[in-house]
Amino acid sequence: MSADDTPSALAEHYARQNLDAPGSLDHFWMPFTANKQFKAKPRLLASASGMYYKDVDGNEVLDATAGLWCCNAGHARPRIVEAVRQQIGTLDFAPNFSMSSPLPFKLAERLAALAPGDLNKVFFSNSGSEAVDSALKIALAYHRVRGEGQRTRFIGREKGYHGVGFGGMSVGGLPNNRKWFGPGLPAVSHIRHTLDVSRNAFSKGLPPHGIELAEDLERQIALYDASTIAAVIVEPVSGSAGVVIPPEGYLQRLREICDKHGILLIFDEVITGFGRVGHAFGAQRFGVTPDMITAAKGITNGCVPMGATFVSERLFDAFMNGPDNAIDMFHGYTYSGHPLACAAALATLDTYEEEHLFDKALSLGDYWQEALHSLKGLPNIIDIRNIGLVGAIELAPRAGAPGTRAYDVFARAFHDGHLLTRVTGDVIALSPPLIVEKDHIDRIVNVLADTIRATA
Ligand SMILES: Cc1ncc(COP(=O)(O)O)c(C=O)c1O
Repeated sequence: MSADDTPSALAEHYARQNLDAPGSLDHFWMPFTANKQFKAKPRLLASASGMYYKDVDGNEVLDATAGLWCCNAGHARPRIVEAVRQQIGTLDFAPNFSMSSPLPFKLAERLAALAPGDLNKVFFSNSGSEAVDSALKIALAYHRVRGEGQRTRFIGREKGYHGVGFGGMSVGGLPNNRKWFGPGLPAVSHIRHTLDVSRNAFSKGLPPHGIELAEDLERQIALYDASTIAAVIVEPVSGSAGVVIPPEGYLQRLREICDKHGILLIFDEVITGFGRVGHAFGAQRFGVTPDMITAAKGITNGCVPMGATFVSERLFDAFMNGPDNAIDMFHGYTYSGHPLACAAALATLDTYEEEHLFDKALSLGDYWQEALHSLKGLPNIIDIRNIGLVGAIELAPRAGAPGTRAYDVFARAFHDGHLLTRVTGDVIALSPPLIVEKDHIDRIVNVLADTIRATA
């Protein structure tokens, strides 16, 4: 080992590398980004701790989005950092095809204990997109092993976001994410979304109007016949569409219709999982148990990629009827149950538990709600929505230039107010880490109030 290779010299080297200016911005094709716009005025984060990022200019930036809906316990939490540090030097990789390590079993057991109902089998992947594609494939294969292989249709929902794989894209309902990429899966249809600003604007929590939209599912069933439909997939709360909160009774009604027709119900909880709306999952918050749940993001507090598909025991058991030496499902990823991700997830669950973070969205929910709704009446705000520690401020679009007003608020809040928010369309979406305190909430709301006033 040379002097430059000692652990402390290496640590210093990599810390410096993180903080240094990036050099050329030419070569990283940034995802879901207007690359030209970003590169003309970049926003570059250098480090993070607790509720704050630090940008490359040394400004402390308050994180009102938990990174990208994922750092639910805040940043650089000691237990998680230490667990990952230890794991990388102990077991860096282990195959999980007909081999394994103790880690994914331990993690799956912990996760199963958090899941609602009998969703106690966990299939690991590396992202929300993969968790969704896994759920869709499990749904098809489940029907097939039971002799109902003709159930191949999926029902998604307008405005749904289920990641960017061909499966998730196809069941998703955001036009920009679909229109560039061809026809997608062959048998997919969509029920209507539930966003109704005309009837539900400024609702606090669940909006009162819209349960009848669940009856769209009955119409799809009448058209295609239940015997051809494998599953319905929805986010309990749509995040990427700009935070669409389910009308009272709506999710219950979807469950009833699915039950009546033998159709599986999948909740995509990549955003709502791990305490974001209170409880471990939205399913528990809303009192509706689906047949599968997809999760990612908060499962490792965002620090190592991981996805998970929670599957009900009933579904899993249907795959277990073959000979002992037959592979029960021909699906999996090289990194399913990766040791680093498992270690990060186990330490993340410890942190959530020790700090009672799943209760935070409930105990602070009222304060959050009132703080956000205090913005009502500011220029151009046409709706404010909230549930748990999720919030959305919808702005009236500028004539002929949709999306630009909210983008300007987002950019100004970052550059001038040192506040990280998220923008989709003309919606500012908020999802602070669950360690947020009242004074952080006050600052979020104050910066947004100033920024919204200053943005015509
Ligand atoms: C509900 C939902 N599903 C799936 C995904 C895709 O997750 P990933 O970006 O990890 O593939 C996201 C990402 O935001 C999401 O919000």
